[in-house]
Amino acid sequence: MDDIKRRDLLLTGTVVAAAAAAAASTPALAQTPAPAGNARSNIQPGDELIPYEGSKEVKSLRIINTAELEVEAEKILPRGGFDYIQSGSGAEYTKRENIRALEATPIEPHFLSGVLKPDLTVNILGSNLPFPIIVAPMGSHGRAHVSKEVGTATGVAATGTLMILSTVSNSSLEDVARANPGPKWMQIYLPADRGVARELLQRAKAAGYTALIPTIDTTIQYPRETNIRNNFRTPLSLGRGNAPRSESDPVRAARMMASKTDLNWDDIAFIKQETNLPVVIKGVMSPVTATRAIERGVDGVYVSNHGGRALDGVSASITALPRVADAVRGRVPIVFDSGVRRGQDVFRALALGADVVAVGRPVMYGLALGGHLGVQSVLEYLRNDLYIVMQLAGTPDIKSITRDYIAPRIA
Ligand code: FNR
Repeated sequence: MDDIKRRDLLLTGTVVAAAAAAAASTPALAQTPAPAGNARSNIQPGDELIPYEGSKEVKSLRIINTAELEVEAEKILPRGGFDYIQSGSGAEYTKRENIRALEATPIEPHFLSGVLKPDLTVNILGSNLPFPIIVAPMGSHGRAHVSKEVGTATGVAATGTLMILSTVSNSSLEDVARANPGPKWMQIYLPADRGVARELLQRAKAAGYTALIPTIDTTIQYPRETNIRNNFRTPLSLGRGNAPRSESDPVRAARMMASKTDLNWDDIAFIKQETNLPVVIKGVMSPVTATRAIERGVDGVYVSNHGGRALDGVSASITALPRVADAVRGRVPIVFDSGVRRGQDVFRALALGADVVAVGRPVMYGLALGGHLGVQSVLEYLRNDLYIVMQLAGTPDIKSITRDYIAPRIA
């Protein structure tokens, strides 16, 4: 590696950790280099001083399609923050594939079905939702908007649907719960320290989150090339709402959240034992994982490849979905995400086995462009689009959307 490239790479926290560990090992070639850390352990002293200001816009959005939201958000967000949101990992094969494979899943309408007004309501793990579209967990909404996750939660609450809050939110889980009296789940990056983990889980339960969503696909971070190029570091000045309250130093508190790299089934059991809340594992991309999850008493399966931000090279999430659904056989609910941009995509995922469909980046762009009203606009756009698709496809309600409404795939 030449010096310039090496210096550029060394500016990123992930690579610094890997390089330092590799340098310390003797003999260097005899050891596997230590892997890059995860986002919860890469915090460096000084990160709390990095200035960052997201958008302050608060307005409803006239949405023609969500792709255009990305174009507009790019114009108003700081480069590093926008790229953090839009990027995928590695060569971004999986990120592109999510969109391509959804588009290549043709809908087969059943005309003359006599549907007047489709009913979009759904129940998931005891929560009644007005439509089957929910907000995927995403860290650091402060990168998009000064109102942070409280802004998103306010927009979600206005629609009545469900938001999954990320462990690495800027707003505290308690503030977000206050902003959203409706249904809410909490995503868990399980802290390696059991005491810190317990505190996080108990706080989530006490604040009224009704399900826990451990993410299983990000035990370390696959490098995101755009972030490396931008020398992007986590602006800790935006806050780490869920870091332990016992530690007042923000860097030390954030580091205490470093999550467990050797995550395993016992950890999933621990989350359930500690809280007695339903547990839905996020990042399931194979029938084997789904079957094991059910055998071990997991309450739901979340098919996702993290929007192409975890292991690059895995298949599109929609490609994995029908195989996972076959393994699940209706025994537990299935959540789906990655690449959902239109009502058609929601319909495709419901038809291939999902019970509810989560949306990531478009919600962040809505937040950037219009604060809580922007989030509300995005969710209403997707809801209205789904309504039109259901009416035209001839499905009166969510449970009637089955594989019969998907034509054989384009090769
Ligand atoms: C994410 N995602 C994510 N997932 C998770 O389990 N915990 C997290 O903290 C985050 N953080 C995060 C930040 C940002 C900016 C993005 C875009 C995504 C992944 C997220 O939950 C979801 O799987 C994807 O966003 C879905 O893909 P789309 O809808 O963005 O294509």
